[in-house]
Amino acid sequence: MEMTIAPSSTRPLAPVFDLAPLSPALGAEVVGLDLSSPPSEAIVTALRSALDRFGVLLFRGQHLDPEQHIAFSRALGPLQEVAQKQYQLANNPFIYVIGNVQEGGRQVGDPSVGRLWHSDQSFLPSPAYGSVLFGVQCPPEGAATLFANMYAAYDALPADVRERIGDLHAVHSFREYYELLRHRDPTQPELTDARRNAFPDVVHPLVRRNPRTGRLALFINPGYAIGIKELPGAEGEELLAFLCAHACKPEFVYAHQWRDGDVLIWDNLAVNHKGTEFDTARYVRRMHRTTIASTPDAYAATLIH
Ligand code: OGA
Ligand code: MN
Repeated sequence: MEMTIAPSSTRPLAPVFDLAPLSPALGAEVVGLDLSSPPSEAIVTALRSALDRFGVLLFRGQHLDPEQHIAFSRALGPLQEVAQKQYQLANNPFIYVIGNVQEGGRQVGDPSVGRLWHSDQSFLPSPAYGSVLFGVQCPPEGAATLFANMYAAYDALPADVRERIGDLHAVHSFREYYELLRHRDPTQPELTDARRNAFPDVVHPLVRRNPRTGRLALFINPGYAIGIKELPGAEGEELLAFLCAHACKPEFVYAHQWRDGDVLIWDNLAVNHKGTEFDTARYVRRMHRTTIASTPDAYAATLIH
């Protein structure tokens, strides 16, 4: 099934791209767009509304140098610098290198990013709007990225749970996440005091709203959430565990098997995601990511109270 999306306008314009849904859960492939030249305003508007609708957009067969990747991402919003300085592309604070790739004996990619379900940078007061991940070199098996539809997860909750969580907030902790990560991957450096202090714990509501469509999303981040602010102790922990298990049920999930040249954009309010393992002894993986920031105003527009 393919749909044609034309930019909303009073002028009759030729369609700018086609959309082919990727799975029943979420996602669409954008067909007919080359990302190496910056998109027009009409295309940006159409991409944003496609993202509102599908949560994840796939573009195949792309060739992007770092400048082209950044220029395309910037058209969607202001970019955020890479937090892990040791994994930023040389002289380029906006490109985060992910994967087991080495150069001159040095590990240049972050080897263990995102192996727990998460939404990027929910440890910030205004979490990232979106991420643009480019598959430069992708293993032919393994290393799929999983995405879960947080609108569908919210809609599928029992009515009494939806009622109950409407006023609750989760505590999101960079520190806890990092300790978990280090536990899984001892090659990760110890957290410095400077970084610990730069990212104090933050709270976010369990339910946020897409400001353009009005759809409600479950905002739950198993990787970072350590508790419910209003429900200390076991009650909060149990609710959190229930929501996290619910949010990654197979019916909400799309698994993306990467090919070289794939670009994925995802909306961090619409979906949670998770990386998976691959045979690191056999394959090299190299991904480049830019991160589209959110402003305090844009974040405020997603709050329901
Ligand atoms: C990310 C992420 C997972 C992966 O880039 O934010 O979580 O499969 N990636 O690379
Ligand atoms: Mn991530």
